[in-house]
Amino acid sequence: MKRTENKSPYLRLHIARSNDSRAFARMDIVAAVRREYDSGKLPTGSRLPPVRVLQHQLGVAKNTAHAAYEELVAQGVVENRQRLGYFVLARGKDRPTAKTTTPAMPMLLKVGSGVVRKAKGEGKNPIRLGSAFIDAELLPRERVAECFRAVLKQQGLPNDYDAQGFPPLRELIAKRLVKRGIPARADDVIITTGSQQALDVVTRALQKRSIATENPAYGIGKQLFEMNQMDVTGLPLDPFVGPDMKVWRKLLALNRPAVLYVTTNFHNPTGYSYSTAELMQLIQLSQELQIGLVEDDWGSDMLSYSEFRPPLRALGGENVLYMNSFTKKLIPSLRLGFLLANETTRAALLAAKRVATLANPTIVEAAVYEVVARGYYDTHLRRLQVELDTRYRACLDALTALMPEGVRWTTPGGGPVLWLELPRRVDLHAMTERLRENNVLLDARLKEWFFGTPHLHGTRINYAQESIERTRRGLELLAQEIRRELA
Ligand SMILES: Cc1ncc(COP(=O)(O)O)c(C=O)c1O
Repeated sequence: MKRTENKSPYLRLHIARSNDSRAFARMDIVAAVRREYDSGKLPTGSRLPPVRVLQHQLGVAKNTAHAAYEELVAQGVVENRQRLGYFVLARGKDRPTAKTTTPAMPMLLKVGSGVVRKAKGEGKNPIRLGSAFIDAELLPRERVAECFRAVLKQQGLPNDYDAQGFPPLRELIAKRLVKRGIPARADDVIITTGSQQALDVVTRALQKRSIATENPAYGIGKQLFEMNQMDVTGLPLDPFVGPDMKVWRKLLALNRPAVLYVTTNFHNPTGYSYSTAELMQLIQLSQELQIGLVEDDWGSDMLSYSEFRPPLRALGGENVLYMNSFTKKLIPSLRLGFLLANETTRAALLAAKRVATLANPTIVEAAVYEVVARGYYDTHLRRLQVELDTRYRACLDALTALMPEGVRWTTPGGGPVLWLELPRRVDLHAMTERLRENNVLLDARLKEWFFGTPHLHGTRINYAQESIERTRRGLELLAQEIRRELA
C-alpha cells in the first residue's frame, strides 16, 4: 500500500540542549514546545515538525523524538493524528489561545497603482499612436531564434556568468563603437538589462543624489530619479527651437547637479536631436561647471539612410558615460543594453550593477553576440531604417493633409516619434479618452514627462509601430478630435 505522506506546513521551533549535554534529550524537545505553548505563541491546530525532521536536524534517535511527542500528548499540549502528525491543542479557557496578529505594512513610496494593465476601454488591436516601440513585424525574430538555438546547441545552458557581461559580446560592442569614432574598450563595457538598467546603475553609483535632465524627460527615467529621492534639475527643452543654452547654464550653475543626463538622438518624448554645436556646448559646460555627462544614445541606430552623427562620447572622449541598447531595435523582450565607462568610473558602475542583478542571463548575451557577429544586426538595421524612413515620410504627409490650423509638429528625420504641439484650448485628457473609445491609443500624460508646469501642450506621435495605413487612420481620428475640441 502506498504510504500517504503529510506535506502540510509545520512549525519552526528553536530547540536548545540542556547546559552540560552534548546530545539532545527527550526533555529538551518537550521544554522547547512547552515554552512556546505556555507563552501562547503556538497557533491552535498547527503541526509540530515531523519526527523524521527532528531526527535529521537534531541527530536524535526516532525513539527519542517519539517519546518527547508522546510526553506532550500526555501533558495535553498536542494530539497525535497518526499518519498526519502531532498537532497543537487549544489551551484551557482560562488562558486565551494565541491570536495571529497582523504584522505592520511595509512603508513604501507612493506611486500610482503600480500595475501595468490594459487601459479601460481599450479594445482589440488598438492603433498605438503614442508608444515608443517599433512594429514587431519589422524585427528579426526568426534570426534571433536561430541564434538562440545555435548557442544552446554549441554550449548547452551556461552554468556561470560574468558580472560585467559576456566577454565576447563586450569585445564586439567595443569594436563596433570604435568604428564609429567612439572611444571604447571591452573592459569598459558593462552589459545591462536595457538602457533602463544602465540609467539605474548610474543613479546608484553617484556620490551626490542630484541629476539634471531635459524637461520634458524620458518618463521612466524621471520616475527612477524621483523614486531615488534625487534632487532633479529639469532643463527646459522646446523641440521646435532646441535648448536655450543660456538658461541651461544658469540652472546648472545654480544647482550644481552631479551629472547631466541627456538623450542626444531622438529624445523621448519630443523626438529632438542635438546639433553637433549644441553637443560641443554641453561639453564646454561640463568642463566649466565640473558636471559629468551621461549620454543616452538609444536613437543613433535609427537615423535615416543608415548614417550616424558623432555622439557626445565621440566628441568629448571617454569621461562621458555612454549608454545604448538592443531592445527597441532588435527585440524588446531581450532586454539587453550596455553602459560604457572608463578606467576611473568602471569600478563603481560595475559594483552598482552587481548589487542590482549580479549579472545578465549569459544565454541572452551569447545569443545577441551571435546576432551581431553573424552580421544579422547590421543587415536588419539597414532594412529597418529604410522602412522607418518610409513610415516617417508617410506620417508627415498625413499630418500635412489632415491637421487643422494651429497644430505644429517636429521633423526629427529618424527615430520612432515626433512631437505634436496642439493649441492650449485642446483638452488633452478628454481627447485621449475619446480616442481610446475609438481604439486609438495616445500617450499624453504630461505629468509623467514634465517637471512642474508643462511648457509644451501636446504629445508624442509614433510612426514606427503601426503600418502606414493604420497610422493614417489613427491620425484621421486624432485630427477629427482636435477639430472637435477647437470648435
Ligand atoms: C530615452 C530612453 N532611454 C532608455 C529607455 C529604456 O529602454 P530599454 O531599457 O528598453 O533600452 C527608453 C525606453 O523607451 C527611452 O526612451
